[in-house]
Amino acid sequence: MTTIYDSIRPIVWRNNKLYLLDQRILPKEYTEIELLNAQQVAEAIRDMVVRGAPAIGITAAYGVVLAAAIRHAEDPANWKQLIQQDIKVLAASRPTAVNLFWALEHMQQKIDAIDGNPFEILKTAADKILQDDIDANIKMGRLGAQLIAPGSKAVLTHCNAGALATGGYGTALGVIRSAFSDQRIEHVYADETRPWLQGARLTAWEMVQDKIPVTLLAEGAAASLMKQDKVSWVIVGSDRIASNGDVANKIGTYALAVLARHHGVKFMVAAPTTTVDMQIAHGDAIPIEQRSQDEVLSCGNTRVAADGAAAWNPAFDVTPAALVDVIVTEKGVVENPTTEKIAAMMNA
Ligand code: MRU
Repeated sequence: MTTIYDSIRPIVWRNNKLYLLDQRILPKEYTEIELLNAQQVAEAIRDMVVRGAPAIGITAAYGVVLAAAIRHAEDPANWKQLIQQDIKVLAASRPTAVNLFWALEHMQQKIDAIDGNPFEILKTAADKILQDDIDANIKMGRLGAQLIAPGSKAVLTHCNAGALATGGYGTALGVIRSAFSDQRIEHVYADETRPWLQGARLTAWEMVQDKIPVTLLAEGAAASLMKQDKVSWVIVGSDRIASNGDVANKIGTYALAVLARHHGVKFMVAAPTTTVDMQIAHGDAIPIEQRSQDEVLSCGNTRVAADGAAAWNPAFDVTPAALVDVIVTEKGVVENPTTEKIAAMMNA
């Protein structure tokens, strides 16, 4: 029997409140944070209580549900107007993941069509965004795993594109879960992912929860890993895919794609269609979040850099489509992505 490796849910709606697993303190502590309004939700996204493109979008959708309940109770005649300031606050939380803007636009369309009390309709819409994301990840997991030859031994991933970064199951880690379950791979290498350590803290934790053997490395070690023929694929997620197939993802992804091409290692991007931005012609147009210098100058909360040094801390980079061997979405597999192939996949 196939084992389903899927035990983690980072976003939970309970008793009319939103609960997020606090990813800032995992794996040391497993703590949920309770959120009551859009302002708190936006802060949680900005502070990385929740992170990862699909998870940010789902969380923002529940932020709209909380806001609608408050605004409708406050002024039933004008709630649609009042909620616009909440949607603006949510939209300003983080700039790169297009799933955030997709989810807010989707909820706005529901709002436009509501006549009467908005709560049930918006809550149902947010639940559906969450469930659709999990379903998409399971599909992508199967499609992506089929590309990995049985006996491939190990793959390399970067950042955390797992259950924690989504509604559940994960994008890149969904492919890895599925490939491990199919016995196509035995092992996962995970970049620690400086400066926020999503790999060391979150990906490693997820893999351990699901009993998938995981080995961490500093991203500077990835070239040697590939040179020694230890991995057949690099598998990553994405925060935004431009309509030509350029891929924004965690800083360091571009370097991995260059290394993979040099060493003949295949490069796979797994992302739901909610991550594809058909409004953007190429990756140069993707807004890249710059985060605080302190994240680089410190490790944990301890300052490690020499006093007086500055730091450059872009949170994401863009991998050109030409370095991507395959993009996997819930709608299908796009090999050697081009504008035409991405459009055909989106319209499928
Ligand atoms: O800064 P983060 O932790 O939100 O960055 C997350 C990533 O870069 C993920 O790889 C991406 O969002 C895909 S998540 C399925």
